[in-house]
Amino acid sequence: MSGQTPLMIRDVSGAGSGPVSRSVLGLPTAFGTFLGALVLAWAVYKCIDASLLRFLVVPPHNYRDAIARSLEKGAIPESVVGVKGGSFRRRLVLAAQKPQLYSTMKLNRDSVATSKLRLARIDKDDPNFMDRLRPADPHAKRRLVFGYFHPYSDANGGGERVLWEAVYYTLKQSEQNLVAIYTFTASDDVCVSSILQSVRSTFGIDLFADGLNDRIIFIQLNNRYKWLIDGASWKHFTIIGQALGSVFVCFRSLTKLVPDVFIDTQGLPFCYPLVALLRIPVVAYVHYPLISADMLNKLSSNSVYHLAKYVYWTSMMKLYQLAANFIDYTLCNSTWTCNHIRSIWGSSAQTSPQIVYPPTGIDESKIADPLAEKDRVLLYLAQFRPEKRHRLLLQEFAGYAKKTSEPFKLALIGSTRSKQDEETVQELKLLAEQLDISSHVAFEVNAPRKTVDKYLSQAAFGLNVMWNEHFGISVVEYMLNGAIPIVHASAGPLLDIVLPVENDEVVAPGTEHATPSGFFFTDPSDPDYKGLFPSLSEVLIKADRLDKDEATAIRKAGQLVARKKFGMDVFGKEWTQVVALAKKTELEKRQTRNKVEMVY
Ligand SMILES: *[C@@H]1O[C@H](CO)[C@@H](O)[C@H](O)[C@H]1NC(C)=O
Repeated sequence: MSGQTPLMIRDVSGAGSGPVSRSVLGLPTAFGTFLGALVLAWAVYKCIDASLLRFLVVPPHNYRDAIARSLEKGAIPESVVGVKGGSFRRRLVLAAQKPQLYSTMKLNRDSVATSKLRLARIDKDDPNFMDRLRPADPHAKRRLVFGYFHPYSDANGGGERVLWEAVYYTLKQSEQNLVAIYTFTASDDVCVSSILQSVRSTFGIDLFADGLNDRIIFIQLNNRYKWLIDGASWKHFTIIGQALGSVFVCFRSLTKLVPDVFIDTQGLPFCYPLVALLRIPVVAYVHYPLISADMLNKLSSNSVYHLAKYVYWTSMMKLYQLAANFIDYTLCNSTWTCNHIRSIWGSSAQTSPQIVYPPTGIDESKIADPLAEKDRVLLYLAQFRPEKRHRLLLQEFAGYAKKTSEPFKLALIGSTRSKQDEETVQELKLLAEQLDISSHVAFEVNAPRKTVDKYLSQAAFGLNVMWNEHFGISVVEYMLNGAIPIVHASAGPLLDIVLPVENDEVVAPGTEHATPSGFFFTDPSDPDYKGLFPSLSEVLIKADRLDKDEATAIRKAGQLVARKKFGMDVFGKEWTQVVALAKKTELEKRQTRNKVEMVY
């Protein structure tokens, strides 16, 4: 590749109009072309800007007649709707008694999916329905559609818990709030009720309660386009491929229904410039930075291939930063993510990123008595994977056990997800034997939840040995259960969770004279070891000698931190505020629209 490049340059110069004109005219010509392209791009953007919103939200002038005529038939004929389906659907959703009935996804297993715009019987029988179809003054009491763009809403992971809790609190914030979910489905059998049932069984979030689900509209994205935003299908140009794919999928979503507030909980930032054309607020919940500065720094530019790669990544980074300009509210899931996002987006994001911790799903009221007497048990809840550093733990534990006659019992509880993980367990058992600590170590592999809860309620200490764990939900569980955390001093445990307490307030890490809520260690094997904290075996010795009053104070501090920052209702309170702020911005933005678009 490096051998070919000079040739390419020669080719290009040969294609010009000779050496003389090139030096005299070449530069101005190139400059002119560049300027021309800029002007053209600007003009195209302006044209789209002027017409896109009108195209998507303003229905044909006789739309109410068309709907009135179709009420008996139960569907609006395709010939009437044409390309204006989205604008019709928006009017219908805003007027409907049960907006959910206007979902594009099938409602039940046995209903048939259709692209027709159906009309609900309940609305046909409602004398005020036709009236509610009218456009509304921005200041009037009106419904608002909160659009959650989350194409993989069926993944049932941590990101999806955030999505559904956010949906729940959006609906709770006001009766006027509607939610639209833009999503692919795992198969064509999936329907609205099966999704909502799985949300209830997986996360315990009941969207059937109080008829909340009537206000959720599902916009099914065409599963044929799934590959477009799947990282795995873009082997080489993953980021740009996904970026273009997501813009396309987003555009398709908007043609089906334009929301009043756009909320991205999946992490598809390249859609924001498109959405911003609609003069609606954009809320981004960031789990993880798409490109980080670390990634760029790792690239060197010592070969043409690497140089090309460097240029590619740098331009992607620039685009990523550009996209951030279109966000109105940036929310991050942790301090770690927030620090990265601040360093990448800097001042370009309109409002500086705020941390909103994801809901943990732990119901602290179910925990019996966190401050009760505990067993001499050290608990480590972690999958059996190398980065969890069980080996280090065993070695340090052996170092501590040698120095005491009756050491703690060490309980290693975790799941194995692959053959490799199972081998890890075997190796660890062998290591425990070699270190002569087998009799003190209990392995609980793939234990049922009941066993986990039992250990949680009885252990005096809870461990987290991983380096740079972005969060560490098990540490929160330890604290809520009254187990004192002993954690590696990095990322989530250090910055977000094991925080000190002063006068019943959670204070910053390292605050002097505050009561700690746990202990920290570091290890010479850490990639960024500076020796600022004691080693794990030293901390274990200290923990063993802790007197009762001290232990109680630390436990109480842990309870306070865990409840204040990660309690059941914390996410709900914060999300409710986000919703309220978004509504304010929505009104401001709506007033910057043209007269017609302002009321639709
Ligand atoms: C934030 O999201 C990332 C990526 O999904 C995850 O690794 C991390 O644990 C999350 N943080 C919290 C606080 O849940």
